[in-house]
Amino acid sequence: MSVMNAPSATRAPVDIPIGPAKMLINNEWVTAQSGKTFATINPATEELITEVPDADLRDVELAVAAARRAFDGGAWRKMSASERGRLMFKLADLIEANKEELARLETLDNGKPLNDSLNADLPLTIACYRYYAGWADKIQGKTIPINGPFFCYTRHEPVGVCAQIIPWNFPLLMQAWKWGPALAAGCTVVMKVAEQTPLSALRVAELALEAGYPPGVINVLTGQGPTAGAPLARHMDVDKVAFTGSTEVGHEIMKASAESNLKRVTLELGGKSPNIVFADTDLDKAADGAHFALFFNQGQCCCAGSRLYVEESVHEEFVAKVVERARNRKVGDPFANETEQGPQVDKAQFDKVLKYIEYGNQDGANMLCGGGRKSDRGYFIEPTVFDNVDEDMRIGKEEIFGPVLSVLSFKNVDDVIQRANKNLYGLAAAVWTRDIEKAHRVANEVRAGTVWVNCYDVFDAAAPFGGYKLSGIGRELGEYGLANYTEIKTVTVKL
Ligand code: NAI
Ligand code: MG
Repeated sequence: MSVMNAPSATRAPVDIPIGPAKMLINNEWVTAQSGKTFATINPATEELITEVPDADLRDVELAVAAARRAFDGGAWRKMSASERGRLMFKLADLIEANKEELARLETLDNGKPLNDSLNADLPLTIACYRYYAGWADKIQGKTIPINGPFFCYTRHEPVGVCAQIIPWNFPLLMQAWKWGPALAAGCTVVMKVAEQTPLSALRVAELALEAGYPPGVINVLTGQGPTAGAPLARHMDVDKVAFTGSTEVGHEIMKASAESNLKRVTLELGGKSPNIVFADTDLDKAADGAHFALFFNQGQCCCAGSRLYVEESVHEEFVAKVVERARNRKVGDPFANETEQGPQVDKAQFDKVLKYIEYGNQDGANMLCGGGRKSDRGYFIEPTVFDNVDEDMRIGKEEIFGPVLSVLSFKNVDDVIQRANKNLYGLAAAVWTRDIEKAHRVANEVRAGTVWVNCYDVFDAAAPFGGYKLSGIGRELGEYGLANYTEIKTVTVKL
């Protein structure tokens, strides 16, 4: 693996096949009707990787029509549930067989370290498809003992044509979280991939063709949010929209549904997750956990532990450990073996993160390390830690989505629970303690969709994930994720 062991020169390895670089509609690789394209950039070098089609309303119409036809009749609807499962197992096997190539493509387009692509994104993606493949023939209703001479039962039917709009932070994994339950349930999909990272999803679509999905079941559009995503969310022939991304666009998706056909909406949005460290915990393990919780994936995680609450009595000691880890974090060429942190995904995110670092300084937080750009080429940012943050500062309140950690101090369990909840988001939280009572009090009282105790970012396709409050609506993964892709039909028969 010459690429993996390459020295830290930030150059795109030339030997990565970039896949179709076209859109998939009705099992055909197509350009945009307008003929327009846009660039996808390597964030480590700021160089062009390739151009992809710039979809607009006309392409959305074609893709939705294909998905509609596939849903309303034909091979897909006649296919048995177990055969749907077999197709998905086959797709998982094909991804596994091509995992090195997919990992390199993901790293090229997104900038995340190859080690992370290989050891986190790919295994989680494959496991997600296998998990939902197993569900395909286990989606079933109930018989219900209603009053009178009736036989009453429910059917869990596929919700229909699903629009799925995904972000760039975990492109392969977000595709799996969306395709897994939709295709297991028997839906058809039109996916709009993120403009920053279209390539890996297109390569997986190619593998899905190889697996044997019939025409129109999966369609993949490349395009911008307002011109390709928005018309999809508003389309009258789309039965459900699943979105992951910013809270701002989440509001737009909901509005589009409200103003069109009340299509079902699931949203997985931003976060400002509290990560709570009690004095009684193993401080070294908790410091490793706090470092990982925030800096993993360049800080570009919706559930990043971005408000680190440290109990007063160990504040100084603990912050010193956290700063030491941040200082030692290896930032550089994502293809280099030793690299822990690559570039931010694009110029817009890079600028946003640097702006928040400015806000932190303006608002009176105490910057202990980092604070700047890391190299003069590529969107690299130094791991940054701010101490003395409070919940009213912009860096204590808003989602930064970059390698910037905000540290806050707390007095006791009542104080920290109240302050952990003092935020509009509610995606995740974590608590580090040896005291089982404190652990459970936090787990019960923090308003968040996921709580980790003495760990962070533990994901499994079987465990539901999603947000309270502004972090979203509905859950992904597990049985709850699947439920969002079915409609319940009640059938009552007079006996
Ligand atoms: P975004 O929400 O604009 O983009 C996410 C997806 O939505 C992309 O596919 C985009 O093309 C699409 N989109 C954008 N506008 C749309 C519209 N009007 N209608 C339909 N689809 C639309 O997020 P962006 O601009 O990439 O990042 C901004 C911030 O959002 C980040 O800094 C971060 O705070 C947050 N974010 C959260 C993510 C999460 O995992 N929850 C993922 C990505 C971003
Ligand atoms: Mg945006």
